[in-house]
Amino acid sequence: MQTKKIFITRNIHPDAVSRLKSFAEVDIWPGETPPSEEFLKQKIAQVDGVITLLTDPLTSNVISSANPGLKVISQMAVGYDNIDIKTATEKGIPVGHTPGVLTETCADFTWALLLSLARRIHEAALEVSQGIWKPWGPDVLVGYDVYGATLGIIGFGRIGQAVARRARGFNMRILYTDPERHIDLENELNVEFCTLDEILSQSDFLSLHTYLSETTYHLINKERLAQMKKTALLINTSRGSVIDPTALEWALINKVIAGAALDVFEPEPIPAESPLLRMKNVLITPHIASASIHTRQRMAHMAVDNLIAGLEGKRLPFCANPQIYSK
Ligand code: DGY
Repeated sequence: MQTKKIFITRNIHPDAVSRLKSFAEVDIWPGETPPSEEFLKQKIAQVDGVITLLTDPLTSNVISSANPGLKVISQMAVGYDNIDIKTATEKGIPVGHTPGVLTETCADFTWALLLSLARRIHEAALEVSQGIWKPWGPDVLVGYDVYGATLGIIGFGRIGQAVARRARGFNMRILYTDPERHIDLENELNVEFCTLDEILSQSDFLSLHTYLSETTYHLINKERLAQMKKTALLINTSRGSVIDPTALEWALINKVIAGAALDVFEPEPIPAESPLLRMKNVLITPHIASASIHTRQRMAHMAVDNLIAGLEGKRLPFCANPQIYSK
């Protein structure tokens, strides 16, 4: 039997790579930044399977160039908005992803951002590291209380729910909006289902947990930011394009809302000239919500599980386009 050829677009956990090397020829992109669309096009034409990351442009153009024998695209992320699923599905290529394993890690990180922003921890730590320790004063670095405040969650999937579970310990009023109502969870987690308008106008903290789709693209725009409380803090660990960046700049410059903590941005990386980078009430991290040692290892293994299943012609355990199996 001919040795299978695999391409991985970044160095992933070595144990996961070893599993693949035992039966396939594995080629790994050595860079820390993603390969170009042109490079991916050439590679995908030569291999039986690829493991990709959310920064790789798996456009229709790239997928259309795939080797007719390409058995699987396995993405090491829960989100797959970088992949043209329609083209992959039309070509009968299963696309794997890694839901579930990163839920708690991402929820922890959302809370880390929320607490840092509310209590100005990032600002305070920066001042201290710069040698500025302002003496204790009634107004020094005062922030917002989290305990007892209202938390709005847009997108009540796995991560949104995990964020809500943590909020119960802070005695918060928890509001959520989602295309689907989750009546069972409303009792269990003491959460209230709301319209988007209600959640925007009532939340002290608004946390975004939606997938990026045509409906959620720039969901948070100028009009919606204007509906929020002046004291509201916005947290985004979903996808950058859920927020219109120009509208957010406008809202923060004009004090329409009080601050933002963003792990994702449109585009990534955030342009160096963005005024948001110079605002004290904005906390920006470089898309690291799932970045715990254990979770990244589990994601790599899950991506390999999907890849192996695809190469063996089996149904992927975690498939983003299961409709290909009903064809
Ligand atoms: C994902 O998996 O989609 C996150 O954005 C990164 O882990």
